Amino acid sequence: MKRAVNILKNVPKSSRNLRQFSSAAESQKKTTHFGFTDVDETEKEKKVHDVFANVAKKYDLMNDAMSMGVHRLWKDYYVGGLQIPYNAKILDMAGGTGDIAFRLLRHSPTAKVTVSDINQPMLDVGKERAQSERDIQTSRLEWVCANAEQMPFESNTYDLFTMSFGIRNCTHPEKVVREAFRVLKPGGQLTILEFSEVNSTLKPIYDAYSFNVIPVLGEILASDRSSYQYLVESIRKFPNQDAFAQIIREEGFEHVRYENLTLGVCSIHKGTKPRK
Ligand SMILES: C[S@@+](CC[C@H](N)C(=O)[O-])C[C@H]1O[C@@H](n2cnc3c(N)ncnc32)[C@H](O)[C@@H]1O
Repeated sequence: MKRAVNILKNVPKSSRNLRQFSSAAESQKKTTHFGFTDVDETEKEKKVHDVFANVAKKYDLMNDAMSMGVHRLWKDYYVGGLQIPYNAKILDMAGGTGDIAFRLLRHSPTAKVTVSDINQPMLDVGKERAQSERDIQTSRLEWVCANAEQMPFESNTYDLFTMSFGIRNCTHPEKVVREAFRVLKPGGQLTILEFSEVNSTLKPIYDAYSFNVIPVLGEILASDRSSYQYLVESIRKFPNQDAFAQIIREEGFEHVRYENLTLGVCSIHKGTKPRK
């Protein structure tokens, strides 16, 4: 409302008719956050793309270094807790270098996984890894470069939707949840692992570590401080556990719930697409 009033202020009184009002509103570009910086909504996707294209080759090494290996435990726990139907079709969105997809294949001997990501360099690293992991049957994997906000998949296709540490990088998380709802079969499960709001006791240490240590590790190990600065900032800008659960509910999922890991450093969100 306040914004609409501001827009009106910029329009001459004599020409405040509906048509001119709407063209003035259109010319006010929508902004969003890229870490702590405000950017035009249309710029965020490219900036995020550049971050992951830059870090793709060092991504796995950096994950181990930044989390001291704990990301592996979170991912094991996340996938280990999934109930995967026989012959399931799974979509792992923002699947990056395949960490979740490989765990899904190991967890379920019959599942087939579509690994999708907006960033081809991340998928390329994943494909190479799949070839070199002896216990991975590459025939059960499909790699698709796509935007989570506009998925190129048919409606009612997947039994399970997974997304790990990807959704906070998307410009419109609610569109991703909407698309997940569309591509899931009725009764299908949405499960999202994402950084969250940490418990207040841990917060001072967590903040000190993430703002002082992680960008420096990025500089030393990947020669890229700014990408890792973005990563820590993006965590702070993502809705907290309750707010994100509410987004999932509003997009039509039922049995919506979440579970905190490591005092809320990250959380696992779940919901079910109604059968009717
Ligand atoms: C932190 S990585 C997570 C990768 C992997 N899921 C994991 O847990 O290791 C975030 C991934 O989200 C992808 N991503 C960012 N925005 C996206 C979008 N709009 N659509 C699809 N993937 C996106 C990035 O390219 C990147 O591979």
